[in-house]
Amino acid sequence: MSITTLGQFIIEKQQDFPYAKGELSRILRDIGIAAKMISAEVNKAGLTQILGEHGSVNVQGEDVKKLDIIGNETFIWALEKGGEICAMASEENDDMIPLQGAYSKNGKYVICIDPLDGSSNIDVNVSIGTIFSVYRRVTEPGTEPTLADVLQKGSEIVAAGYVIYGSSTMLVYSTGKGVNGFTLDPSIGEFCLSHPNIKTPAEGKMYSINEGNAGEFPAGVTEYLKWVKESDKASNRPYSARYIGSMVADFHRNLLKGGVFIYPPTAKAPNGKLRLLFECIPMGYIAIQAGGEATTGKQNILEVEPTEIHQRVPIVMGSKNMVEKVISFGF
Ligand code: AHG
Ligand code: MN
Ligand code: MN
Repeated sequence: MSITTLGQFIIEKQQDFPYAKGELSRILRDIGIAAKMISAEVNKAGLTQILGEHGSVNVQGEDVKKLDIIGNETFIWALEKGGEICAMASEENDDMIPLQGAYSKNGKYVICIDPLDGSSNIDVNVSIGTIFSVYRRVTEPGTEPTLADVLQKGSEIVAAGYVIYGSSTMLVYSTGKGVNGFTLDPSIGEFCLSHPNIKTPAEGKMYSINEGNAGEFPAGVTEYLKWVKESDKASNRPYSARYIGSMVADFHRNLLKGGVFIYPPTAKAPNGKLRLLFECIPMGYIAIQAGGEATTGKQNILEVEPTEIHQRVPIVMGSKNMVEKVISFGF
């Protein structure tokens, strides 16, 4: 049989990280378990009419929780059991959370997570995702983790990736040696290697931006948007506009087919909308690992020094030539 499961793949690759002593393998395995549990919940989301809306009590008499909260709690549970992660920064929590598992304090790693990305799309059966990034802690294992452990540059990432809950559920991740994608086979409950060594095309013809905000874009972005609509066979134009409003889904399509994702600064949100730690760094890392680019317009996203957990930054990421084209207009 030619199937490789996520678990098998992680163990095979463990030799790439002799210093990690299997800890990173355990973290990735625990992320895979959490992803499968969230995937099962996402598949039930359409049943809320029957099972009860958020804030209500369902037919079994239990409180119904938002999927964002379920995702967050599932990750905390899986990672506390694992004991390799000492702290988590999540889009769902104002502050960093030190994990409380029996061994968590001795964990050598931290995680940053957006448990449910694109949550406004849950009600309408559109793809959503989970985004994660893992770093080695900077404080001594055994001591209390501090903010400095999670406020690290993307260049320090040990592993990062995302899960997309789409027409199938996929886990895509990198440990700094390329990008691999795994599709969940529901019949055996395993992620199976389906997209080995993903390389993003250098060129594409899809651009993803919320053009509803066009009146608030910087001049360079406005000029770029005029340029993408012009006819020119040699440069694949006009491009196709594709914007789901679920960054993971927009990013995933562009990664495989070639495209650029843009969230510029706007008059209302001068730093853009997307979060540096939970969204831009991990997805930028995947883009770069797949041969693409990711930048705030001023800096490679992996070089940005985070100063606060919920910090936002403008972002352009995806196919190399397309990112460079956006920036050439001024951003
Ligand atoms: P989240 O659901 O985690 O809050 O993230 C939503 C994000 C991202 O997924 C998407 O690309 C973006 O918000 C859409 O924002 P606009 O509606 O402003 O385009
Ligand atoms: Mn998000
Ligand atoms: Mn979210």
